[in-house]
Amino acid sequence: MPKNDNIDNIIDHKLFSEDDIHQMCVRLGQQLTKDYAGKNPLIVGALKGAIFFLTDLVREMDVKEQIDFMDVSSYGDGLESSGNVKIVSDLATDVKDRDVLIVEDIVDTGLTLQFMKDLLKKRGAKSVKCCVLLNKEANRKNDIEVEYYGSKVGNEFVVGYGLDFMSFYRNLSYIGVLKPEVIKLAQK
Ligand code: PRP
Repeated sequence: MPKNDNIDNIIDHKLFSEDDIHQMCVRLGQQLTKDYAGKNPLIVGALKGAIFFLTDLVREMDVKEQIDFMDVSSYGDGLESSGNVKIVSDLATDVKDRDVLIVEDIVDTGLTLQFMKDLLKKRGAKSVKCCVLLNKEANRKNDIEVEYYGSKVGNEFVVGYGLDFMSFYRNLSYIGVLKPEVIKLAQK
């Protein structure tokens, strides 16, 4: 990690401002309001990255929903997915016959989402869809369907608004691209 924790030494450039993120939440919220009208979806947030997006998104949805969380991890503090997805903490809610909407901050390899979708279907959910803020397709390892997303992103390391680098920087109010030298330092 860089010794100087000044954020200007960490972030190369801002990718999405608070306003950009708000606009994405509004658009997705309106779409989900239409698509889940008359239903009682269970919103499943994937801890920890999704909490910022989830809390903003659900407030843009005029739907009678319920919320639960699941902590699944395939990265730990590492920079690349291990491919081995683990349940760190499970849902408290029975998903049988429920319309489930998984909310994620980012889909990258797609392994986490695939694991969650398969698991929730196996448990008897009536439908399982996902809404992710950022859709990074460059490293995708499957053909998982991403039903709703805020924006596509390139193969850059993004942090902020829930997205972390070695568990740091989740609390930035915007999404920024990490300086490549910061990643190199961490790999030493
Ligand atoms: C991140 C992110 C997604 C997953 C996406 O979670 O929140 O859940 O990685 O990557 P994938 O498409 O390659 O599987 P992480 O395991 O880092 O946990 P966190 O949410 O606590 O940061």
